Amino acid sequence: MKRVVLLSASPRKNGNSDILCHEFIRGAEEAGNTCELIPLYEKKIGFCRACYACFKTGRCVLNDDMAEILEKVQDSDVLVIATPTYFLTMNGMLKTTIDRFLPKWQELGGHDVYLIITGHDSRSGLKLAGDELRAIFENLGNQIKGIIWGENVWQKGEVLNTKAMDEAYHAGLGI
Ligand SMILES: Cc1cc2nc3c(=O)[nH]c(=O)nc-3n(C[C@H](O)[C@H](O)[C@H](O)COP(=O)(O)O)c2cc1C
Repeated sequence: MKRVVLLSASPRKNGNSDILCHEFIRGAEEAGNTCELIPLYEKKIGFCRACYACFKTGRCVLNDDMAEILEKVQDSDVLVIATPTYFLTMNGMLKTTIDRFLPKWQELGGHDVYLIITGHDSRSGLKLAGDELRAIFENLGNQIKGIIWGENVWQKGEVLNTKAMDEAYHAGLGI
């Protein structure tokens, strides 16, 4: 049994990224794993101040939800990172969250990582988001096990009835 943490960065609750997360969860739970979806927009996550206090103390000076999220990420076996594409890359919510990884950046390796990337463009338009997230999470010492491309989806819910649903479900099932 594996512990799965999903960080979902879209502000649209039950939007395309969220729907694919739930489909991943459906597969992963069916295979006997435990999952926790963390909707980042519902959390209090401030911007990194670049004060580097965390390099001395191991803790961030900001008192918000990020410490708890980092603990959950550290305790997970499988990490799912879901983001809509905004101006060709991950959205600001996700980047803000990743910047806040700083206090624990040397302790965030060893996870199997799946990426869920949505956008109204075709694959080539979402590629940069995938490349950047791969580079970031590999650099932290993780392995990218799969990317689920929610391509050609714009309106909320458009991802239903696309092949990405099946891909998300099977990725979850196969972790
Ligand atoms: C500010 C903004 C910028 C966007 N930029 C892009 C883009 O560069 N490429 C793209 O394919 N889609 C872009 N989109 C569309 C979203 O990625 C798309 O609607 C996606 O399905 C949203 O996922 P969600 O339902 O999980 O929020 C943009 C949307 C917003 C709000």
